[in-house]
Amino acid sequence: MSPHVHTINFAKRLLMGPGPSEVDPRVYRAMIQPVVGHMDPAFLEILGQLQQMLRDTFRTVNTVTLPIPGTGSAGMEAALINFIEPGDEAAVVVGGVFASRMCEVLDRCGAKITRIDHAWGTAPDPEQVRKAVAGKKLKLLGIVHSETSTGVCTPLEPLSKIAREAGALMVVDTVSSLGGIALETDAWGLDVVYSGTQKCLACPPGLAPITLSQRALDVLRNRKTPVQSWYLDLSMVEKYWGPERSYHHTPPVNMIFAFHEALRLLLEEGLDLAQARHRRAHLALVAGIEAMGLRMFVNDPAARAATVNTICIPDGVDDAKVRGHLMQCYAIEIAGGLAQLKGKIWRVGLMGLTASPSNVLLLLSALDGALAEAGHKFPRGAGAVAAEKVFAAS
Ligand SMILES: Cc1ncc(COP(=O)(O)O)c(C=O)c1O
Repeated sequence: MSPHVHTINFAKRLLMGPGPSEVDPRVYRAMIQPVVGHMDPAFLEILGQLQQMLRDTFRTVNTVTLPIPGTGSAGMEAALINFIEPGDEAAVVVGGVFASRMCEVLDRCGAKITRIDHAWGTAPDPEQVRKAVAGKKLKLLGIVHSETSTGVCTPLEPLSKIAREAGALMVVDTVSSLGGIALETDAWGLDVVYSGTQKCLACPPGLAPITLSQRALDVLRNRKTPVQSWYLDLSMVEKYWGPERSYHHTPPVNMIFAFHEALRLLLEEGLDLAQARHRRAHLALVAGIEAMGLRMFVNDPAARAATVNTICIPDGVDDAKVRGHLMQCYAIEIAGGLAQLKGKIWRVGLMGLTASPSNVLLLLSALDGALAEAGHKFPRGAGAVAAEKVFAAS
C-alpha cells in the first residue's frame, strides 16, 4: 500500500460554520450499528418511525415525507425536477447563492424562469413578488427560507399565499432552517419542502428530507413526460417508503440509523424549545458581535436567520488570518462569504447542537484574540460580557 495512505484521525473541531454542525455521540453510536438489509422487517419499522418523526419536524401530515439519499442539493433537485416539464413556467425569489442554484436547476429542466431578484441581505418584498408573477401561468414558485449565503430568513406565509393565487406550487428550501427556525408546512400551505441532515438536524451530511403536499403529488402524477432523473423520480422512490415497500435503490442504511437518532434527540428536546435555544444563541451572538464594534451584514434584526449569522469583516482585517487563528488556536471552524460576499463577511452557524451558550461564549472569546491580533480596535472582553447578559436574562 502507498505510504501516503494512513488511518483517518482528525483532531476534533468545533463546527461553527454554516454546516455541517456538531453531532451528538448518540447519533454516532446509531451509525455504527451493523448494516441490515433494506427489507428487514426491523429496518422497515425504523423507516416508519423516521417518517413520522420527520412529519412532526416539518409539521405536516403529508404521507409522502421521506429522506432522499444525497445532500441538500439532492433535495433541491428532487423538489424541482419532479414538478417541471420542458416549457413550464417557474418563478424563483432570489436573494443569494442558493436561490440562484434553484434557477440553475430549473434551467436544466427547460423551465421558463421568472427570476425575482432582491438585494442580498434584505428580505424580499411580497408586493414585488406579487407583481412579478401577475398574469403568469406558473407551475411553481421557489424560495429559500434561510438563505445560507446571506443570513436572511424570509417569512413564508405571504409568499405561499401569492403562490396559491397564481395556481403555483410553493417550493421551499429549508436546508439551513428546518429544526432551528419555526416552519409550518401544512398551516402555511407549503407544497414541497426539502432540507439537509447536517445543519439544524444535527446529523452528518448524507440525506435530504423532503415532504410533498397532495397538490404536489397531483402535479407529479399528471406529468406528461418522465422525470429527467431516474434516481430522483419521487413517483418511484415513494413506493419504497409507502405500503408497497417495493425496491427502487438500496437506502443508505447507516445514515438512516443516524437520522432516526438525530430526530429522536430533536423531538425529545421539543421543536419549540430547540427553536428557542437557536434564537437565544443568535441574540447572544449578535449582542457580543456588536459590543466588539462589529456589524451584522443583515441590517434589519427581523430579517436575520437565527441559524446562519453573517458578520461584516471590518476594514483592514484579513479574513483568512482571522479564520486561521480560530482554527489553529481553538479548532473552531467558521466560514467566509460566498460569491459577491467573499472577503466581506464571516458566516457563523448556530445550528443543531452548535447553538449553545458555551459555544457562543467560546467563539466570542476566540474572536476577541483573533481580532486584536488582526489590528481591530475594540473594548477587549466586551463581546462575551454582552452575550452572557443575554443568556442570563433569558
Ligand atoms: C440553503 C441551502 N440550500 C441548499 C444547500 C445545498 O446543500 P448541500 O451542500 O448539502 O448539498 C445548502 C448548503 O449549504 C444550503 O445552505
